[in-house]
Amino acid sequence: MKFSIKPTDPAKLDTDVLVTTVNDLNKITKGRSELTSLVQEARNKEQFEDKLGNFLFLSTKGYIGAYKLLIAGIDSEDNFDYFKLLNFTASACKKAGEIKAVKVAYIVPELMLKKFRVAEAVSGIVEAFTLSSYRFLKFKSIEEQKKVRFIEEVQLCLPAGKISGAEEGIKIGEIFAQAAVFARDLVNEPAETTTPTYLSKIAEDLAKENSTTIKVKIFSRDETKKMGMGAFLGVARGSDEEPKFIHLHYKPKGSKKKIVLIGKGITFDTGGLSLKGAEHMETMKLDMAGAASVLGVFSALEKLNIECEVVGLIAACENMPSGKALKPGDILRAMNGKTIEVLNTDAEGRLTLADALSYAVIKEKPDEIIDLATLTGACMVALGQDISGIWGNDEKLLGRMETSAKNTGEQLWRMPLYDGYKDLIKSSIADIKNIQTGRYGGAITAALFLSEFVPKTPWVHIDIAGPAFAEKDDPLTPKGATGYGVRLLLNYLTS
Ligand code: BES
Ligand code: ZN
Ligand code: ZN
Repeated sequence: MKFSIKPTDPAKLDTDVLVTTVNDLNKITKGRSELTSLVQEARNKEQFEDKLGNFLFLSTKGYIGAYKLLIAGIDSEDNFDYFKLLNFTASACKKAGEIKAVKVAYIVPELMLKKFRVAEAVSGIVEAFTLSSYRFLKFKSIEEQKKVRFIEEVQLCLPAGKISGAEEGIKIGEIFAQAAVFARDLVNEPAETTTPTYLSKIAEDLAKENSTTIKVKIFSRDETKKMGMGAFLGVARGSDEEPKFIHLHYKPKGSKKKIVLIGKGITFDTGGLSLKGAEHMETMKLDMAGAASVLGVFSALEKLNIECEVVGLIAACENMPSGKALKPGDILRAMNGKTIEVLNTDAEGRLTLADALSYAVIKEKPDEIIDLATLTGACMVALGQDISGIWGNDEKLLGRMETSAKNTGEQLWRMPLYDGYKDLIKSSIADIKNIQTGRYGGAITAALFLSEFVPKTPWVHIDIAGPAFAEKDDPLTPKGATGYGVRLLLNYLTS
C-alpha cells in the first residue's frame, strides 16, 4: 500500500473512491452545484445520519475525478479519541474494499486535525488502512488469493501547510503498522511451525537485520538449567520441542534508560496434564502472542531510532501432556530460589514468566520491566475481548502506559494488585502455589503471583488474553491475531 500527500483540490484526484466526512464535503462541492444537489438528494433519500459507522456511497457521474464518493459518518467532537480515529478510518477502508477499490483518496477530516497533531493523525490513518487491509492468505489456494483485491494507493488530502507533519506521520505509521503485522503473522501461523526453535530463529534474523544495534543470545535447555530456571523447565518438560530462552538486546549509542520487555511465549498451550477441553484449546496457538509482540517491537526499534536500551526476554516452550510432563502436585524452584507448588499445569504462563522476571531482575537490573502475557481467561471475563488488564507496582509507569494506550487506541484498564488476596496463593508445602483457592479474581491472583518475582524494580504486567486475538472480523482486525501491544509499546518507547 502506497501513501501519498495531496495538497491539491480533492475533486481533481483520479481515484476509485474519495472518502470524506459531511463536515469536509464543502472541499469538493464548493462551486459545483450539480454535485451539491446530487449529494443533498442522496442524503435525504437514504436518511443519512452523520454517525460513526454510517456510510453513504454515491456515483459522481463525472462531476469530479473520483469514480465514487464515500461520505462517512463521524462522531461528535467531544469524544473523538484516537481509538475512534482508527476505527473511523478502518471502517472507511473496509467500505472502499466492498466496491473493490484499488485507489482511494481520503480527505483528512478537519476534526482529526483539530484534535491531534498532523503527524499523529496521519500516522493513525496509515496504521488503520494497513491493519484493516491485513489478510493471512498463505494457506489459501492461488486462485483464492488472486480473488482478493487490495487497496494499492491511498492519497491523503491535506492543506499545503501540513505536508511535513504528514510525511512524518506516514513514516511512523508505516513502521508501527508493519511491526504489528509482523506480530500478527507470527501468531496466525500454526503452532506446528512456530515452535520455540522457530521463534529463536526469528530473533536471530532480527539481530542480523539490525546488526549495529541488536544482539541476540539463545539459551538452551542445559544453559537455562544451569541458571536455575526450574519453573520454566518444568513447563517445557512434557514436550518433544526443545525450549529456548530468547534474549534480545537493543543498545543504541548514549542510551540512559534500560527497559526489559517480556513476552509470554507458550507456542502451544494444551493445558498439559490438566488438559484443556477441545473448545478451549482451539485457539491456543495464540499463547505466544506476548512473545510475538515483543519480536514485533524489536523489528521496529532501529527504524524508529529508539533512544533507550531495550532487552527482550522470551521463555519459549510448549505446554504438552506426556509421560515426562509436569504433574499436579510437583514442586518447582524458580531462578530466584522460590519454590512453587504446581496444582494445575494449565496455569503454566506464570511459571515461565516467574523465571523470565527473575532473570530480568537478577541479571539485567533494568529501570523498568513490562510483561505482556495471554495469561488468564479470568481477565477476559473481567474486561472482555477489546481491553487488556494492567497491574503494576509503580504509579508513574502505570500512568505512562495509560497515556500510551490513549495515544494508540490499544485499550487497557488498571486492575488492583490487591494484597488481601495474597493468602489465596499461599501453599502449605512450598513458598507459593500456581493456582488460587476459590473461583474468583483469577486475573488478580495471577498478577500477584508474578509480583512475587519482582521485589523492587518498577514493573507492569499486561494481561492480553482478550485483545490478542479477534474471534470475529473487526474493522481494524480481520478474525485472528491482532498484534495488540506492539503499537502500545512502540509509543511508550518513543515518548
Ligand atoms: N493461555 C491460557 C489463558 C488464555 C485463555 C489465553 C483464553 C487466551 C484465551 C492460560 O495458560 C490458562 O490456561 N490459564 C488458566 C488458568 C487457570 C488454570 C488458573 C485459565 O485462565 O483458565
Ligand atoms: Zn494454560
Ligand atoms: Zn497459557
